[in-house]
Amino acid sequence: MISFLWAEDKNHVIGYKGKLPWSLPNDMKRFKELTIGKTIVMGRKTYESFPNGPLPKRLNIVMSRNPDYQVAKPAILINSYGDLKNHANMKSEVVVIGGSKVFEEFKDVVDRLYVTRINHEFTGDVKMIDLDYSKFTLTEKKEGIVDEKNIYPYTFETYQRN
Ligand SMILES: NC(=O)c1ccc[n+]([C@@H]2O[C@H](COP(=O)([O-])OP(=O)(O)OC[C@H]3O[C@@H](n4cnc5c(N)ncnc54)[C@H](OP(=O)(O)O)[C@@H]3O)[C@@H](O)[C@H]2O)c1
Repeated sequence: MISFLWAEDKNHVIGYKGKLPWSLPNDMKRFKELTIGKTIVMGRKTYESFPNGPLPKRLNIVMSRNPDYQVAKPAILINSYGDLKNHANMKSEVVVIGGSKVFEEFKDVVDRLYVTRINHEFTGDVKMIDLDYSKFTLTEKKEGIVDEKNIYPYTFETYQRN
């Protein structure tokens, strides 16, 4: 089963200069809860945005078309979507964590969406792809807690494919 997990602003911005445009520790916490013990799939640029290499306690699968691209162990490099099933158990939850290029590759097969909607406008250079929400049902919606460390209003939403 394939899920998408991402956070976007009011204008669907997800990235800026190779990083997240915001700091939202509560979203990081949710990211961890939803990915720990699972397989995560990411594009080469998203992988390079991690300051300490592969994320612990998760099978990290990195996509690049460059077969010589080096990922730090224990991450795994794949060169195409077709290669994914050779490394991941597709019967368990495989969480695609972006960026936009990788979301595009999986958009026709994604079963579940975990989105954090941040009610703020940021400067960005990468946006979330267009998704056809009529093909999905909202199954969970939760307002995020705003405090001194999480200063932007945000909502956690989960959708399941119809
Ligand atoms: N807000 C969020 O939730 C969120 C989530 C993820 C990322 N981001 C942000 O988004 C930005 C990065 O996203 P991005 O869209 O620019 O890049 P990306 O999707 O992370 O990486 C793009 C690269 O992935 C590889 N790739 C993509 N599709 C592939 C395919 N079908 N087969 C093989 N390789 C493939 C290619 O690598 P090669 O060029 O090496 O071939 C491509 O250049 C950063 O700013 C990051 O912080 C935000």
